[in-house]
Parts: sequence; C-alpha cells; structure tokens
Amino acid sequence: MTEPWGAPRDERDRDFVARALQTSFGMEREPALRAIEQAGELQRVFRDERGEPAGSALVVWCGQFFGGRSVPMAGVRAVAVPPERRGTGVATDLMKALLGEAHERGTPISTLYAATQPLYRRTGYEQAGHRHRVTLDPARLKGRAVPGTRIRPADFDRDHDAIVACHHAMARAMPGNLDRDAYLWSLLRAPRATQTDTLLIEDDAGRIGGVLTSRLERIPYPGRGFALWASDISASSEQGARGVLAAMAGFGSVATEIRLHCGPTHPLLLLLDEQKYRIDHEEHWMTRIVRLADAVGARGYPATLRTRVGVRVHDPLFSDNDGDWTIEVEDGHAEGTRGGDARVELDIGAMAAVYTGFASPEQLALIGRIRGDQEALSTLGAIFAGPTPSMVDFF
Ligand SMILES: CC(C)(COP(=O)(O)OP(=O)(O)OC[C@H]1O[C@@H](n2cnc3c(N)ncnc32)[C@H](O)[C@@H]1OP(=O)(O)O)[C@@H](O)C(=O)NCCC(=O)NCCS
Repeated sequence: MTEPWGAPRDERDRDFVARALQTSFGMEREPALRAIEQAGELQRVFRDERGEPAGSALVVWCGQFFGGRSVPMAGVRAVAVPPERRGTGVATDLMKALLGEAHERGTPISTLYAATQPLYRRTGYEQAGHRHRVTLDPARLKGRAVPGTRIRPADFDRDHDAIVACHHAMARAMPGNLDRDAYLWSLLRAPRATQTDTLLIEDDAGRIGGVLTSRLERIPYPGRGFALWASDISASSEQGARGVLAAMAGFGSVATEIRLHCGPTHPLLLLLDEQKYRIDHEEHWMTRIVRLADAVGARGYPATLRTRVGVRVHDPLFSDNDGDWTIEVEDGHAEGTRGGDARVELDIGAMAAVYTGFASPEQLALIGRIRGDQEALSTLGAIFAGPTPSMVDFF
C-alpha cells in the first residue's frame, strides 16, 4: 500500500511538487526543481486515498529558542495544493499527516508562517510570535566602529562555526529565534546568491562579535537609489553590535533605506540615538504544541522561579496531550506530569500562545480562550513569561 505521506519517490512526484510550487508561489519550473533538489529529504508529498499526489510541504527539523534553550521544532514551509484540488480538505489532511510525523519523531513543537489562518488554527496552531519589518535611514546611523574593530568579508568554510556561534549568542537571548539546521543556513546563502554578501565584525582579539548578511536591491521608480536588505544580523558583544551598525552605515552613499526583519524590540535598535525608524507589522508566526510534556521539559525558565499549576488541555488530535496536567518549575527546568488539580482550562492552540510568551493567560481569558481562577492564570503566565517572542528568519 502507498504511504499517504512521505518524501517524493520519483520524477513524477517531483514534477507534481514543481507544479504545486508554480501554481502556489509563482515559481518558475526550473527554480522550483532546484528548490526541490536543495530540500532533499525535507520535501514531503501528501497522497489521496487512491495513492495520487494531492499536496506538498517542506518540513525543516530545526530548533527554536525559548527561555535560552533550543526546543526541537518542525518548521513548516511551502504548503501547496494544486488549484484543481483546492477547497476539498486536502491541506487539512496534509497538516494532520505532517503533525503525525512530527509527533512520531518526538518533536515537541511545530512553527509556521500562515498564508491563511483558519487552516492552521483548526489543526491546533496559534499566533505565537512577531516578525516585523524595520526601515532605517542610513544617515541616522552615524556609524563608526569602536577603534580596533576589523570588518572583513566572510569565508564560509573557515568562518562557519564562528558565524553560527554569534547567531546562537543573540538568538538564545531573543525567544522565538531559530536554532538553524544546515538547510536553513544554506537558504541564507543560496538565494539571490549573486547579490548576497556577508561581513564579519572582528574585535581587537580577532573574535567574531558581529555578522551582517545583506544585499542591495534597486528601489523601483519613482523611488530612487537602493534598499539594503539586511537578511541576517547578529551580534554577541557591544563591539560587534556597533560594528554591524557601522557596516550598515557604510552603504549610506547608495542605500536610501536599510530594511531588516525582527521583533518589536531588538538590541541593535536600542543602540540607536533616536527612535527614528519605521516598524511595519509583517506577520505573526504560529506554533503548535505537538508533544506537551516534551515541550514543557525542553525550554528554559527563570532559575529562581519555583511554582506549580494544574491545567486542563483540550487537544482533539493527540490524546497524549489531551487532559489534566501539573506543570511544575524549579531550578530553571519544568516538568509536565499527568493529573493534579486543574484550575485552568485551555485549548492546545491557546497553550502555544502562552508557551512562547506571546499572550498572557489573562489576555487570552478576555477572549474566552482560557478559563481559570485569577491566581492560577497569573501563575501560568509567570512560568512562561519572557521577552516578546520574535523571529528574524522566514521559512
Ligand atoms: C491554502 C491552501 C494550501 C489550502 O488548501 P486546501 O486543500 O484548499 O485547504 P482545505 O480545503 O483543507 O481548507 C482548509 C481551510 O483553509 C482556508 N482556505 C482554503 N483556501 C483558501 C483560500 N483560497 N483563501 C483563504 N483561505 C483558504 C479555509 O479556512 C479552509 O477552511 P473552510 O473551507 O472551512 O473555509 C491552497 O489554497 C493553496 O495551496 N494555496 C496557495 C499556496 C498557499 O497559500 N499556501 C499556504 C502557505 S502557508
């Protein structure tokens, strides 16, 4: 019997995915085929009851930082159903199959960017973090690096580990950001490869404390000049952060604006003299708790917090999440155990919004997504509270 969910098996499957990408995201056939090849084992095809391909998606098995720890995460990308099959429930069944695989592999959470929200809400995802677009005027950067700083182009073979370490240092402190796998790192370098450039910021000791990956894009008429798209920025020290700003300022003679993606608060923005930049809401990414006990156990918590709360969680898809739990936190770690006195009741989607720190239980209670007594709501909120969750990456 043909498995309803799996990697493409042959040329026919790859042709199906290429057409799904073409009719879903406007990709031309050749780039679509190259993208499928680059995805390799990560590409998935969903088949109908006759074994015919009906939809496709790509799953990135990476991590997402919460409370300073990397939580294994299934990142969902490029969900696509060809036009003739749309509106018949294919994507809903595809998402259930995808979550089934994530559950079987023991992956605690799944995250995606949603082109349409109801599809993902009905399979247990909820808004869980921010991705904004920030537009800066390079003239406002007045950038000069700290004396002793060296800015140089990256050599990916030699510098890979240092670039990853710099990214981790920043991502760990900014919940929601990704612990990228090899595929996500390759995406950062491969797309528009002829335009993208990576600069490294070295401190006096030769340590890499900042990274700026960017590309120049001409602003269409009637605008003028170029926009500098900073597709990846990270800094692990003040010298590194100031060096990144200085590197950006260096584009000021040609770039009339600098654009980057991040959440509403970003350490680099705090370094600017003035709040003279624009923040546009782009998207809230959505998260699904796939395995509640593992998700609770995998993230980090404030080291000095010691408390517990009983919750009743409703999950129509996974019975091992559904029901009563006690969440207990101590020494920076938490454990979810079965049973206890449930004083808060919520659905699995609302649990995701609380888990990432995106929405407080009190806020969700106002719109009927959580019920519970005030003390239990605020205890649950205190366990998962943290800086505003955000993501730099789009996948
Ligand atoms: C979005 C898409 C995957 C939905 O596939 P599908 O098989 O038609 O979805 P389903 O039949 O399972 O519908 C599930 C829900 O998705 C939403 N949805 C489906 N098509 C939609 C559309 N054209 N516009 C907005 N929402 C839509 C609806 O809420 C629908 O529920 P409803 O029928 O009860 O209203 C498909 O239309 C597609 O491939 N579109 C182009 C690519 C895309 O947008 N991908 C999503 C990237 S995150």
